[in-house]
Amino acid sequence: MKFSEEIKRRRTFGIVSHPDAGKTTLTEKLLLFGGAIHIAGAVKNNKIKKGATSDFMEIERQRGISVATSVMGFEYEGYKINILDTPGHQDFQEDTFRTLTAVDSVIIVIDAAKGVEPQTEKLMNVCRMRKTPVIVFINKMDRPAQDTFSLLDEIEDQLKIKVRPLSWPINNGPDFKGVYNLYNHSLKLFDPSIQDIEEKVEFKDISSSELENYIGDDAETLREELELVEGVYPEFESKPYLEGELAPVFFGSALYNFGVQELLHTFVEIAPTPQPVQTDERIVKPEEEKLSGFIFKIHANIDPNHRSRIAFLKVCSGTFERNKTYKHVRLGKTLRISSPTTFMASQKEIVDFAYPGDIVGLPDTGNFIIGDTLTEGENIHFKGLPSFSPELFRYIENADPMKSKQLGKGVDQLMDEGVAQLFTSQFNGRKIIGTVGQLQFEVIQFRLEHEYGAKCRFEPIQMYKACWIQSDNHASLEEFKKRKYQKMAKDKRGRDVFMADSQFILQMAQDEFKDISFHFTSEY
Ligand code: G4P
Repeated sequence: MKFSEEIKRRRTFGIVSHPDAGKTTLTEKLLLFGGAIHIAGAVKNNKIKKGATSDFMEIERQRGISVATSVMGFEYEGYKINILDTPGHQDFQEDTFRTLTAVDSVIIVIDAAKGVEPQTEKLMNVCRMRKTPVIVFINKMDRPAQDTFSLLDEIEDQLKIKVRPLSWPINNGPDFKGVYNLYNHSLKLFDPSIQDIEEKVEFKDISSSELENYIGDDAETLREELELVEGVYPEFESKPYLEGELAPVFFGSALYNFGVQELLHTFVEIAPTPQPVQTDERIVKPEEEKLSGFIFKIHANIDPNHRSRIAFLKVCSGTFERNKTYKHVRLGKTLRISSPTTFMASQKEIVDFAYPGDIVGLPDTGNFIIGDTLTEGENIHFKGLPSFSPELFRYIENADPMKSKQLGKGVDQLMDEGVAQLFTSQFNGRKIIGTVGQLQFEVIQFRLEHEYGAKCRFEPIQMYKACWIQSDNHASLEEFKKRKYQKMAKDKRGRDVFMADSQFILQMAQDEFKDISFHFTSEY
């Protein structure tokens, strides 16, 4: 197959949702369609169980499984589909944000009864920031749901994106009869007793009185609602969708595998092929001959005896070839990768060639950090996602004086992996770990001990946010740093960060230093 055709047939995307909306169930059903798995339940255990916050065995088990399910590649109707898994647990949302840098589009799953939930909003904010095309799948229609029009209004309001339904539900809950597909004008009837992926009854002509035979009194309501839909919502157009301004919406029930095939079928048709990617220097186009790519995720400790890691490379241009020499731009050295892996059907296997859109697993002994660029020699740097201010902060202290070197190395490597963020106080040199959730502190402590033989202790610290500061007024910036020197820290890349104790303190600082801007993200 020609290089350009390989690019055209690739669809690399992520499925995101608020926990419990049905991401895992939908992923599994998509994999069933692709023949990537054969039984339901195969993806199910890729989840940290609710309330398992200090169950380390669970975390370890989870990390083992999630390597296999980090990327799920499969073939469907001539398309090569790569689903990038994102952790559902909100304590790991930075991981999810980073994975979103490697996708070309996103499917957001929403629970039809609960509507837009906090995590959905946060994830959508990241998609909006990156102008990522989004499809919405409204799930659990087999259960009592909110009114369809209000749900769509809520999505428009809270997710700040225009919507266009491409399917329409006929009732919900126990009365759920099916969906009408507005994209190819067919009706699909819901029958909870048929849960496999066989075809169901289809109905083409909506104006025919035969419709009543299938859905009874709901027929008239459906006709009315569809008329309203056509009146209220704009025609589906590819351009605003691809620009991240319009989200096509589908309805279904992932559990009953209902509406999933329509979703997949339309998805492969409308979702973007691998897209050009911005670097600090220039835009890289997928069809460029030379390879370029970036590391968006690192998985450590695959084998605890060998401190092995896998760095996940997103191929952005050119063909990745096994045993070819590539340049590691940050280190300025060349690397030859003899056993890169690909992830097909949730199995890891050695890959000889990979194309734009594909994810390649590179065995790593500590050469890579998140954001690293690989090229055939050119010095370019892919723009990553900025760091977000953590929510929780603790001092990290050495609890075993004999092991301070191990602790230093462990903390460094865990931060490179993106487990949490490290700040160093400019006042007293103490190290501060910032996380999104409590679970991350526990993971750090556990992994330092088991992988690096180091012991650490966390001490409380009163802190509200880490603010990256910026100003064109150099004198003012210097004055601020002098005045607030007790609260100034450096992030891992040596940038100045103001560690605000409280919202009030931050407000005071903002009022006093009007020409300084305070950012909750590291790039602005
Ligand atoms: P997540 O990955 O987004 O966190 O959600 P997940 O797929 O694990 O689904 C959360 C719960 O919702 C699961 O039930 C799942 O079976 C159920 N679910 C998913 N899709 C549908 C749907 O379309 N209809 C209905 N009625 N339920 C759905 P659970 O009881 O928490 O887990 P399990 O015991 O079934 O595994």
